[in-house]
This record gives sequence, structure tokens and C-alpha cells, in this order.
Amino acid sequence: MCGIVGYIGHRQAYSIIINGLKRLEYRGYDSAGVCVMNGEPQLFKCKGKVSDLEKHVGSNNVVGTIGMGHTRWATHGVPNDINAHPHVSMHGKFTIIHNGIIENYSPLKARLEKRGYKSISDTDTEVLANLIEYIYLKGNISAEIAVRLALTKVIGAYGLVVMCCDEPNTLIAARKGSPLVIGVGDDEYFVASDATPIVEFTNSVIYLNDNDVAIIKRGELTLKTIFNEALEPNIQTLDLDIEEIEKGGFEHFMLKEIFEQPRSIHDTFRGRISQDLNEIHLGGLYHVLPRLINAKRIILIGCGTSWHAALVGEYLMEELARVPVEVEYASEFRYRNPIIYKDDVVIAISQSGETADTLAAIRLARSAGALVLGVCNVVGSSIPRETDAGVYTHAGPEIGVASTKAFTAQVTILTMISILMGWRKGHLSQERYKELIKEITLVPEKIEKILGSNSEVIKIAEIFHKSTNFLYLGRGYFFPVALEGALKLKEISYIHAEGYPAAEMKHGPIALIDEKMPVVVIAAKDSSYEKVVSNVQEVKARKGVVIAIVTEGDTLIKEMADYVLEIPKAHEIVESLLAVIPLQLLAYHIALMRGCNVDQPRNLAKSVTVE
Ligand code: G6P
Repeated sequence: MCGIVGYIGHRQAYSIIINGLKRLEYRGYDSAGVCVMNGEPQLFKCKGKVSDLEKHVGSNNVVGTIGMGHTRWATHGVPNDINAHPHVSMHGKFTIIHNGIIENYSPLKARLEKRGYKSISDTDTEVLANLIEYIYLKGNISAEIAVRLALTKVIGAYGLVVMCCDEPNTLIAARKGSPLVIGVGDDEYFVASDATPIVEFTNSVIYLNDNDVAIIKRGELTLKTIFNEALEPNIQTLDLDIEEIEKGGFEHFMLKEIFEQPRSIHDTFRGRISQDLNEIHLGGLYHVLPRLINAKRIILIGCGTSWHAALVGEYLMEELARVPVEVEYASEFRYRNPIIYKDDVVIAISQSGETADTLAAIRLARSAGALVLGVCNVVGSSIPRETDAGVYTHAGPEIGVASTKAFTAQVTILTMISILMGWRKGHLSQERYKELIKEITLVPEKIEKILGSNSEVIKIAEIFHKSTNFLYLGRGYFFPVALEGALKLKEISYIHAEGYPAAEMKHGPIALIDEKMPVVVIAAKDSSYEKVVSNVQEVKARKGVVIAIVTEGDTLIKEMADYVLEIPKAHEIVESLLAVIPLQLLAYHIALMRGCNVDQPRNLAKSVTVE
């Protein structure tokens, strides 16, 4: 939800900011802007993507070694030139970029209006710029004090960077709720929503905490809270490679990330499964393992694709660890006054580690005394910092807005946790424990094989890319996969698609089936295979067109289905990891054939830091 970049140092700021914004475009891409200070601010902003901003800047020579830029995902006000960031305060003293939401912007705006302030945009950010300026001019104080005082009046979330034209050699950055990282270089500093714009320059970073303010001058950084308490910067070393955030020869990040899955899954279990396959070791859970094993109930929380991973987790944990599991949309959980017991274990699942609803849900669970764990991908993000313990997925940066490799990494972690719990609780013999561990290690090469049938997926996509509706059906572990397959298709191709438990079809969706309705059935061999065979027959009896995901060597469904895609044989606890791959590819190719922007689908953002 909006990407922020700031720079101060010895290089020209403009190109650093533009390149940084391109890396952060996954966070929002409906408008963009840049402001470089060279005695006075040079500001350019417009509706559209960062490439539109570059066109808008055109042949203007933007010179200066201090500046900031923004790529927006609209919350207040439609995406247009005026609502694009940076915003400038009414008397032109302050320029600001902001990620988050100022919840009390309306009363603040009303109070400022009484004092003669007018806004030209519909944004909450401009109100904040005016508030800072009002305090600054009234109090005749420094820009830093004005920013800090203004932020004490703000309810809501922000990651922001401010420049004041009276202090043209200073950047002020602050965070509450929305992520902000400072890169510490040699005589230069970078500010960004995540480390991707920074990594090519330095791997020394400071993650700001809520209520932190950084006052950054050339070669000098002061860190304090908004309440003026001095802080010691905690400089950490980034573990991120520049290659990981490039497309590496693929046409889109999404395709690259789909094809990366053999490696990303391997990275997820690497070092956590012993060589002799006798043990799962999850260091991040070590000291909470007794509480996890003794939990009376586990609540899995997430949003979007992470919620689908949680559903797979529910099936796995109940099957292997024999513990009751509930799966909750973070947004529902947090607002409905849920019952949380002290011996509950809540596990938040999130790629970004920043999703606002998931963060709020874990805060609620912690305040109720539950043990709260995180399964997150982005190292150093907010959820891992606010949970009691957790496990990183290690899938590497996921840039495509539609999640792919993060999903399979999350499911891999949940599979490992479930097996570990099952064994420690005595539900799995040593032999079965080892057998299941081995199944995980075989997944990467099986996915490699599935990726080898990409050309078959393309053929199916060619036939169906003009369809207007799709139904996805699955049972057991394949039900969440059906939901995820449908979500992938709607996110990036804008085709209406629904995922359903196969057996529920007869309670409604069956009414939709005719010869124009493609029905994707995940019908690989598992314990409910026979039942799914009947469901396929039901679809065929109504002239539905069946695209089936089957296990290699299957003959029964092959005879009934119109099109089939095969996945290798595997134990059913890891089959969801395999079955989702052809569905990711199908969504990708259909979207591509429909001319959609695969990596940046309309209206979506990768990291949803609004509630
Ligand atoms: C957004 C993204 C999805 C993601 C969801 C949850 O909607 O577009 O791909 O699944 O947020 O994000 P998280 O980072 O918490 O997994």
C-alpha cells in the first residue's frame, strides 16, 4: 500500500528514487511522484505508473542530492494527478510522502480550515502536511519538532518522509504501523518501505519501530521517538541479493516466482530437516514448543492467499497433530469480539508481515494472553517483531502481486509444524515421522516435473482465455487449492471464478453448469478420490467442460474429463503443493492472453497496510 523512497547523500537523488519506486511498485501503482530539493523543491507527480512519471518529468533536468518519491495505492481520493504524492502544505513550507491512513484526518481538517487552511486534494496526507506547517509557523520551531508534535495528534498509521524548504538539507522520516527501513551507506542514507530499493547500495539497515522519528542530514542520523526520547540506532545486516529482486530473464515476476518454487521450497526446509531425515528442527519455535504441543486449540489467521495456506494448515494439523484448529480471516476475527483462551496458540500467516488486519488480530490475541506465532516471509517485518516466536518461510522476495511461491512456502512450513507436533504428541511413529519428512524433501523435484508441462497448460489457456466464468472444485486438501486457483484467476485475469468444496457443488453451483462453464476439478489420487470421480460425472452429465488435475497414470478421470493436467504421485499431505502449480500457470497464461498486466493487476496491492 504505497511505496516510499528517500535519499540524501553524494549522488544525484532522482535516478535513485525512480529506480527505487520501480522496485516498490508492487505496493501500489495508481499514481507516482518525486520531489528533489536543490535549494528549492522540484516536484513532479501524475496519475499512472512510475514509467508515466518518467514521461511526465520528460526532459527536465532534475538535479539535487536529497529527495523523495512515492508510488500510490489510493485510499482517500481517486487516483489522479492532484491526489498523487508528494503533497505540499498550503504555504509551501513542507513536502510529504506518506503510506498509511490518518484516521482522524476529518476533524484535523475541520480544525485547520477554521484557521484558514485549505486543501486542494482529497487526501489525508495533505491534511497532515498542513498540520505540520501550522504547528511550525505558529510555534516558530524547527521542522523536526513540528513533525513530532503533529504526529502526536495523529490517529492512524503512517510511514512518511518530510522535507522542509527552510531546512533543505534534512530528511525527516517517521513510522507508525507502516513499514520503513533506513539504509546506512557511506556518507549517504536511504529511506524506503522495504529494503529492495536499498540493497544495491548498502546492506546495513535500520528498521524503524512504531513512534520512531529519524532526522537525517548528510552523514548524520539522529533517532528518537515522537516524544523526543533519544534512541540508539540498531544497525542490522540485510540478507538480500540484488538478483533476487530482478526478473532474471522471465517476462514477468509472477512467472519467475512460479518457476522458482522448486528452489524456494527447498530453501524453506533447508537446514530444518536433518540429513538423515530423522528430524525437523524449527529453531524459531524451540522455546515455545512445549506450549504449542500442549495447546488445546490452534487458531490460524491470515488474509487472501495466506488464508488459503491456513486452510491447508488446518487439515494438516488436525490430521497429523490431532489438535482442534480454527481458521480465521484476520479482518473478521479482530472485529467480532472473539473468544480467546490463554492456552490457545494463534499462528499468523503473512507473506509481507505487514498486513494491517493480521497485525491487529495478533495484537488482540496477545492482549488476551494467547501465545502468538508468525509464519512470515519478509524478514524484519512487523508481524515477526510483534509475535512471541515464529518461523520465516525463506521464499525470497515475492514481487508479483498475485502470491505464488509464498503460498507454497507457507504450506511447507505448516506441514513441517504439523509433522513435528504429531510426532512430539505421540501420534506419529518414528517410522511414519521419517516417511512424512521424506515426502517434503521430494516436493521440489516433483514441482520441477510439473513445470515441465507448461506448454500443455498454455494449450488449455488458449482454449479458455475468453471464458467469462470458471468453477474450481476440490475436496480435502484440494479444497483450499480450488479456492487458491480461483483467486489467482480472478486477481490477474479479471475472470469471475469461484472455488468450492466439490461435494457442495450440488447445493448451488451445479445450477450454473452448462457447456460454456469450464470446471477445474482437482482430482489427484487421495483419500477422497472416489467421491471426486462422482463429482466429475455430475458435471459431465450437465454438459460442463472439465479440466482435471490428475495423478500421473490415472485412467478413470482421464476418460471422463475434457482436458487433463498431470501431477506426480505423492503422499496426500504434500499434494496441495503440487496441485496448485498448474493452477498458477493456468491463471498466468490466461491473464497474459487477455492482455492483462500480470504483475500489477488493477486495484490490487501486494502489501495491504490499510484496514
Ligand atoms: C494482498 C495480496 C495477496 C495476499 C494478501 C495477504 O491481498 O495481494 O497476494 O495474499 O494481501 O498478504 P500477506 O502479506 O499478509 O500474506
